[in-house]
Amino acid sequence: MSQKTWTAVDDYLDDLIVRPDPAFADALEASQAAGLPEIAVTAAQGKLLELMARAMGARRILEIGTLGGYSAIWLARALPAGGRLVTLEYNPKHAEVARANFARAGLAEVTEVRVGAGLDLMPALNGPFDFFFIDANKEGYPDYFRACLELSRPGSVMVFDNVIRDGKVIDAATTDFLVRGVRQLYKDIAAEPRVSATSIQTVGAKGYDGFCMVLVGR
Ligand code: SAH
Ligand code: DHB
Ligand code: MG
Repeated sequence: MSQKTWTAVDDYLDDLIVRPDPAFADALEASQAAGLPEIAVTAAQGKLLELMARAMGARRILEIGTLGGYSAIWLARALPAGGRLVTLEYNPKHAEVARANFARAGLAEVTEVRVGAGLDLMPALNGPFDFFFIDANKEGYPDYFRACLELSRPGSVMVFDNVIRDGKVIDAATTDFLVRGVRQLYKDIAAEPRVSATSIQTVGAKGYDGFCMVLVGR
């Protein structure tokens, strides 16, 4: 199996069941026009995030790593009336593109982009959040895990992106600090009695990677 097949299957599924509406293509187009890197989640992955958040009735969602707001639009679509999404972004240009994308998608009222390093911004947030999507600097994942735990309640769910990285995650001798961050995350999860977790390997239009899901409260 190859990248070509994974992309073709994502196209097939997008057309048939994922069915992203035009707001998503608009957001990607604006992000690309602004020169942002093309590293947003795929539509199928974004829809999975939306469905997870909807299935658990999440009213308060925190994202770390906004980019152009693509994954945040999926997640904000999951919010019930009165719900809110806060997303943290280090790069002011990314934040500006995301705010424009939220406005275009009719989500300006329910979303808030805060600019700064995620870990610096988190102590000022009012928890608890029901659902977390962690997708910023990977070497920070162990710190984000701790900080999210502080902002959680029993029943909260965390999803971490990019936790398989072409299988590099099993290389104990790696010097890649991003992979080291993910490996430390797994160690910390394993040592934390308050959570239960799994990781799912994924293939698709964005290659071979994965999601880690953490439930607070066993
Ligand atoms: N969640 C987005 C993709 C995020 S890409 C989507 O799927 O649509 C990762 C983002 O994290 C980039 O925009 C990058 O600028 C941001 N980032 C990097 N380091 C960060 C930090 N320390 N705090 C917050 N955001 C950070
Ligand atoms: C990168 C970051 C991501 O969050 C992602 O999903 C894919 C790639 C990156 O920094 O290269
Ligand atoms: Mg990612």
